[in-house]
Amino acid sequence: MSEATSRPLPRHVAVIMDGNGRWAAARGLERTAGHEAGERALMDVIEGALDIGIRYLSVYAFSTENWGRPRREVEFLLGFNRALLRARRDYLNSLGVRIRRIGRRSGPPEYAELLADVLAEFDGAFEMTRSNRRLELLVCFNYGGRAELEDAAARGPIPDNLYAPDVPDVDLLIRTSGEMRLSNFLLWQAAYAELYFTDTLWPDFDRHALAAAVADYQGRERRFGALG
Ligand code: FPP
Repeated sequence: MSEATSRPLPRHVAVIMDGNGRWAAARGLERTAGHEAGERALMDVIEGALDIGIRYLSVYAFSTENWGRPRREVEFLLGFNRALLRARRDYLNSLGVRIRRIGRRSGPPEYAELLADVLAEFDGAFEMTRSNRRLELLVCFNYGGRAELEDAAARGPIPDNLYAPDVPDVDLLIRTSGEMRLSNFLLWQAAYAELYFTDTLWPDFDRHALAAAVADYQGRERRFGALG
């Protein structure tokens, strides 16, 4: 084994799955087709994470800012999250994946009914998978880093009151599609994360791309502000 590959694995990998809309536009398809292609990429990345031995995988499924998209796309994304959970939870359960949602439970009143349905689906998936220990899939849904910090600070000391206080900090944060922003994702948990940006659009990302990001991470020296 080379020196680079002998460095520790990231325990917690977080992913901003960006570029679904552009992937679809490049093919003359509806944006929704891009999200559907993104589901296949996500399943492949989950299987890759299990192969590699990653313990926590956070994915940005729907942000507190996504409510501002056109109604048609918001409704699609909510229904899409629900359908994905329904279609994949048994399989993910069989792989030993614990499906856990983090984010706010409340949203804009005009979406209350649909949102309640999606949250019920998340609650069911969590109940089904709660004793699984191989991989924890943290689905950040109706999630915003600032909202999380506001909610935590209102309850007490921030680290103890994060949405998932038991989950370790993010080691490696991946964003696809060439954008180099955090976009309000896991602001507290990613304070010392290694950042990895790739031009690959999310539907084209897969387990091999994940392995490349992890290898890149293993080649870096982490100093956490000290001298190493
Ligand atoms: C960003 O592409 C992607 C999203 C807004 C949604 C991604 C969600 C999933 C793949 C499903 C996750 C669900 C569960 C239950 C795990 P974009 O629309 O911002 O693309 P663009 O920047 O090219 O327009």
